[in-house]
Amino acid sequence: MRKKIVVGNWKMNKTVAEASELASAILEQLGNGIVGCEVGIAPAFPSLTEVGKIIEWSDIRLVAQNCHYQEEGAYTGEVSVRMLESLGCAYVIVGHSERRQYFGETNQTVNLRLRKALSEGMQVIMCVGETLEERESGITERIVTEQVREGLKDVGDLGGVVLAYEPVWAIGTGKTATPEEAQDVHASIRATIQDMYGDLPAQHLRIQYGGSVKPSNAAQLFSMPDIDGGLIGGASLKANDFVAIVKAAG
Ligand code: PGA
Repeated sequence: MRKKIVVGNWKMNKTVAEASELASAILEQLGNGIVGCEVGIAPAFPSLTEVGKIIEWSDIRLVAQNCHYQEEGAYTGEVSVRMLESLGCAYVIVGHSERRQYFGETNQTVNLRLRKALSEGMQVIMCVGETLEERESGITERIVTEQVREGLKDVGDLGGVVLAYEPVWAIGTGKTATPEEAQDVHASIRATIQDMYGDLPAQHLRIQYGGSVKPSNAAQLFSMPDIDGGLIGGASLKANDFVAIVKAAG
């Protein structure tokens, strides 16, 4: 059985002090209560060190929101996988739709980032998802399949990979995909993985859902057969809500 994974993506929110406070509150509320589910939090880069110290002895994983694909060098404003590793990050998110939409990420650059992270032994959460226009044109499956295939190009082993299906129209909008709508896309992603890697890797791969997950809809989403947890934006900025979502998965 796949262990569910719930990750809070804090995006460009919280100063270091605010992030530390949030991490402490989450830790306190979760206590030892996270057995059934893997939990991670992804603060912005400046807060990784302090948040990392707070959760160091807990089961909560430190997650970064992005990484560059080069080892090091003249890439102003970028952060390497080795830097993230040195801060104790267990996972890095790549290909978030906000990166694709505002920062020119393509399936090709997502693939480079993913491969670099895996080659350094870091686990990766790769995001995929269609825009509203694509959904309305009936090409959701084609778009998502393409993102999965191109994002995973030349990746031989899915051991360190988690996928996150995040319909762009559901992110930060309050509009959630219905559990059935999400399940349909998750099942099609798993079918693509089965085609690429075979049965066993497809059964083992965890696929998170993201896009306006809240305490009120989490349990229903997580009860779907191919939804293995969530990538949580807005609701992860409040300890109570995030912990309620984690408990819905555990
Ligand atoms: P949201 O964001 O929960 O605020 O919709 C999800 C995400 O972007 O990962």
